[in-house]
Amino acid sequence: MGSVKRKTCLITGASRGIGLGIARRLDAEGYRLALTAKNEESERKLRREMEDFNVQDHVPIVCDMCDVDRIYALFAKVDAELGRLDTLVVNAGVHQHGPALEVDVSPLDQLFAVDVRAAILCCQKAAKRMIDQGGGSIVVIGSIAAERPVAQRACYCAAKAAVHVYAQSVALEWAPLGVRVNVVAPGPIDTEFLDGMYESPTSRELLAKLVPIRRTGEADDVAAAVRYLLSDEANFVTGAVLRVDGGRLWS
Ligand SMILES: NC(=O)c1ccc[n+]([C@@H]2O[C@H](COP(=O)([O-])OP(=O)(O)OC[C@H]3O[C@@H](n4cnc5c(N)ncnc54)[C@H](OP(=O)(O)O)[C@@H]3O)[C@@H](O)[C@H]2O)c1
Repeated sequence: MGSVKRKTCLITGASRGIGLGIARRLDAEGYRLALTAKNEESERKLRREMEDFNVQDHVPIVCDMCDVDRIYALFAKVDAELGRLDTLVVNAGVHQHGPALEVDVSPLDQLFAVDVRAAILCCQKAAKRMIDQGGGSIVVIGSIAAERPVAQRACYCAAKAAVHVYAQSVALEWAPLGVRVNVVAPGPIDTEFLDGMYESPTSRELLAKLVPIRRTGEADDVAAAVRYLLSDEANFVTGAVLRVDGGRLWS
């Protein structure tokens, strides 16, 4: 019996939250994984999480997405460790909220460096490899904030809108070359990401009531959508935005 070739995946920002949920699910699907964390401390946390979930075949990589040289080094490491790259999940992201009149340059630069520039560079680096290998699939984690303007979150909404349109544009450019690119747009998902905005249990409960399905999402809700879009089941799907938001966009 011939051995089944296992797909490889690079997931950015896999140390916690949605990225960690995606890593667990793709591991269960049999993927070989390269997983990034921002610094040594979160990489240690990532290793512990992988141990707890008995994830054997993964390569943890420290990569601060604000640092372009680190991003290039990340892909060199992926080449060396995985040999080929079949799929990419661009997940690492930072949030920013507060009055638009008071936004400072430094957090603005950080937001756009991580959520937009790093996303674009990762897509570009991955797509080049996928095209050389004969194809691949990319999922970018966007947000319903890209389609749902929110006061006090103007820069975050703008950053996510930028990556949505980028992903859909390269989906057209790379489709004839064998690379599919899709967006998963979460609504409110219960991770540390929401902490700054919804600190108390009461505010989380109120948020849940605003969602038509009457709960906030779990990381695995997003992971299930990512799994589908990366898989061959979605081989006629590109340039799509799959919302995982319990109906929140329209409420
Ligand atoms: N949770 C939600 O309600 C929600 C809704 C819509 C969209 N999203 C999107 O989903 C994605 C994941 O969010 P989450 O909820 O899982 O957030 P989270 O719990 O705050 O996790 C964020 C992840 O991004 C990584 N990251 C942040 N800054 C980084 C940097 N400079 N370099 C490298 N990695 C960095 C973090 O790594 P470290 O742990 O190493 O710092 C962490 O793994 C983001 O793109 C976010 O915009 C989330």
